[in-house]
Amino acid sequence: MKKVITYGTFDLFHEGHYRLLRRAKALGDYLIVGVTTEAYDATRGKLNVIDNLMTRIENVRKTGFADEIIIEESSGQKFSDIKKYDIDIFTVGSDWTGSFDYLKDYCQVVYLERTKNISSTMLREKNRPIQRIGIIGTGRIANRFVPEARLVSGVSTQGVYNPHPESAVRFAGRWEIEAYTDLENFFSAVDVVYIASPHETHYAYIKAALEHGKHVLCEKPMVLQRAQAEELFRYAKDRGLILLEEIKTAYCPGFQKLLNIACSGNIGSIRNVEACFTKLERPDVRELTDPVYGGSFTELGSYVLLPVLKLYGTDYQELRFDTIRGENGLDLFTRASLVYPAGIATATCGLGVKSDGRLLISGTKGYIVAEAPWWKTTYFEVRYEDSSRVERYSDTFLGDGLRYEISNFLSMINQSSKENFKLTRSESVALADIMEQFLKTENRKHEDMGTQGLQPEISGEHRTGF
Ligand code: CTP
Repeated sequence: MKKVITYGTFDLFHEGHYRLLRRAKALGDYLIVGVTTEAYDATRGKLNVIDNLMTRIENVRKTGFADEIIIEESSGQKFSDIKKYDIDIFTVGSDWTGSFDYLKDYCQVVYLERTKNISSTMLREKNRPIQRIGIIGTGRIANRFVPEARLVSGVSTQGVYNPHPESAVRFAGRWEIEAYTDLENFFSAVDVVYIASPHETHYAYIKAALEHGKHVLCEKPMVLQRAQAEELFRYAKDRGLILLEEIKTAYCPGFQKLLNIACSGNIGSIRNVEACFTKLERPDVRELTDPVYGGSFTELGSYVLLPVLKLYGTDYQELRFDTIRGENGLDLFTRASLVYPAGIATATCGLGVKSDGRLLISGTKGYIVAEAPWWKTTYFEVRYEDSSRVERYSDTFLGDGLRYEISNFLSMINQSSKENFKLTRSESVALADIMEQFLKTENRKHEDMGTQGLQPEISGEHRTGF
């Protein structure tokens, strides 16, 4: 019996897939079809798969060509499947010509001609109109956003807004997009808005974008007051719009894996979480000089609070801040200590004091350690009382990682689910609440800008993110 194997995502099952499977089956007597998992597709940068795994398997099954369907979970699997299933012929479409020649030592490799003018990518774009993204802000993080957005199919970066023409034109020229200095013109040219302006402008920009019927993805910290977060989420929900806070860690596959393991019972009940992220900055940068919104906690606090909120929830009983200040009174290093009914946590960040940036999650049966940069999670270990027992986990974090949240944002826009489990509304509200409490304890007189005040505050040099 001649055994044939082929693999694919088979998203939005189409004619090209059907023809490929029919010819694959005709190559032998028994056809095995490997269907990729969402997690595997994410590791190879295929982020916009629409159909879930069960639907994709069902569609392959319905063709009647597959004698057996298996799951493809990792890149090295093809080799072991060929051995395991005693395969005679490996086949895929001609778009892969040459890519699998290394398997020729083990079986015959056949590239079948790809069906022209049809692909899942084309269908995704046809069924769902391309979302034109408008960016507000022209700083470092906005510069990282554009190349990342180009890797996500279904979106295109249309233009950038900055009230300072020079900054807008420079940014637009660099990325070959449109420059806008008028908010009305900007909103009328885009479908969704990405906000990467200074913290204090977020609220007014989000509000203005939502009022213009735009979905919004906003850099962390989304807002600095609980009431504002609640108001904006309510407003967005009532109008069927998506509002999402951007903390790249929340959306990356490695961090998802870490949370899954932490919550799976492997380390027992979680009793302590310590998250630390420090980054030494020159003393003259905006983050260390802005008397109202500067300092380490507003800049990095969202990252270190994220694992605490994900693992314990938002109902902490006590919250305390300890800070080390620079000469201008701004916090160079802050530790937020949280007490929950069943555990404790510290979220530590610094811009002027360097520490060991790690994430440690301690449980009743063992603990998880992720070393810096755990906020771009690629590797972590689970350790136990028996020190010889160590479980190692790794995952990919591609590029600057913004592609994960952009693709998540797009899925939320395109699909019926309006809630996002990777960073929920209540978690974003809790983050805003903690920021507000921090600024209060710091006694900073901060007042977020209203829409009228938007114009002069946008600086092209603003730096946010890391
Ligand atoms: N295939 C084909 N003809 C097409 C599209 C796909 O023969 N027009 C083949 C691929 O070469 C592969 C299999 O079908 O062997 C599964 O491909 P998959 O990547 O799932 O489909 P695509 O339509 O190429 O998906 P995407 O656009 O997301 O890359």
